[in-house]
Amino acid sequence: MTVRWGMLSTASIGRVVAEALRGSAEAQFVTVAGRDRQRAAAYANELGLPRSAASYDELLADDEVDAVYIPLPVALHTEWTIRALRAGKHVLCEKPFAMTAADAAACFDAAEAAGKLCVEGLMWRHHPHTALVRQLLADGAIGRLLFIRAALSVDVPPGDIRRTGRLGGGALLDLGCYCVSAIRLFGGQPLRVRAEQVVDAAEGADGSDLRLAATLALPGDVLGQFDVALDYPRRDELELIGSEGIIRVPDPWICRVDHVELERGGAVKRLPVAGEDPYRLEFVLASRAIATGTPPAFGRADAIEQAAALEAVRAAAGANLRP
Ligand SMILES: NC(=O)c1ccc[n+]([C@@H]2O[C@H](COP(=O)([O-])OP(=O)(O)OC[C@H]3O[C@@H](n4cnc5c(N)ncnc54)[C@H](OP(=O)(O)O)[C@@H]3O)[C@@H](O)[C@H]2O)c1
Repeated sequence: MTVRWGMLSTASIGRVVAEALRGSAEAQFVTVAGRDRQRAAAYANELGLPRSAASYDELLADDEVDAVYIPLPVALHTEWTIRALRAGKHVLCEKPFAMTAADAAACFDAAEAAGKLCVEGLMWRHHPHTALVRQLLADGAIGRLLFIRAALSVDVPPGDIRRTGRLGGGALLDLGCYCVSAIRLFGGQPLRVRAEQVVDAAEGADGSDLRLAATLALPGDVLGQFDVALDYPRRDELELIGSEGIIRVPDPWICRVDHVELERGGAVKRLPVAGEDPYRLEFVLASRAIATGTPPAFGRADAIEQAAALEAVRAAAGANLRP
């Protein structure tokens, strides 16, 4: 079965995702909706989609759409996830899935009521390098896990949705969601959080966090630490330190890697990893879960705990990003 996907908005990331799905037998985009009819039609034409919709509601009413991909600004994720589920569609909503744990829970309540699948779009978790890191940890390749360090920074101009608090922007939500998801995946749900932030002071900025650094206490005396920023040069980093070695993932979030590094006794080995497209994997896995009715790898509890951890970091940093 090919799951027929509709895209809610003409987002930039949608181009990357649509390209990644080209030729897939399991998942296919069939339409896109935009707030502007002509922009949606031009976008559909550019991506080679058979049709477009002049509003998000029009797409949700389309009987030939099985599932909806939501790459909207973060502050709109929960509203449109719930609307899509209530319209009888499965949903894959982009990261960060929700701004609060309560919002995440509301989405999964709606999914359960509708009997539809709801998935958070954190594509890096599906890549083979993530599976390899989990396997190395389980095999004791670095001994006892002691410390996880993650970083992600980009340099985006003022006014970008990522620097607009009322749309759910800010470094923590936009970038920190990757770091927090990694720290949680490998180290468990944080017990305590400390954080500091620098608020965006650019002209027209609305109080969102521009840079943030946090330290998390994890179960078993493991520490996690991450930093994110929207005005640094690009950095993508993930390092796991154990009692007997270190694992480093060279490109942990976008996954353009062909290896993971394992350091033991000062010697570094490059462990090969299959070069797969993480967006394609994410949609193929979600589509298989839809087609077979099997639960996806990451479900309700994970999404709620992820949102709760982000809320705790935000509270610790003194931010108030709720629009
Ligand atoms: N997984 C990844 O690698 C990845 C990468 C980048 C972004 N993302 C996520 O994907 C989502 C979109 O990010 P993006 O960078 O692609 O954003 P973008 O290019 O700015 O697109 C967002 C779209 O949302 C629609 N929209 C609806 N209301 C809006 C409003 N009030 N202001 C602005 N746009 C509005 C617009 O489309 P219409 O006008 O056509 O409706 C716009 O094109 C975010 O949740 C982001 O975190 C994920």
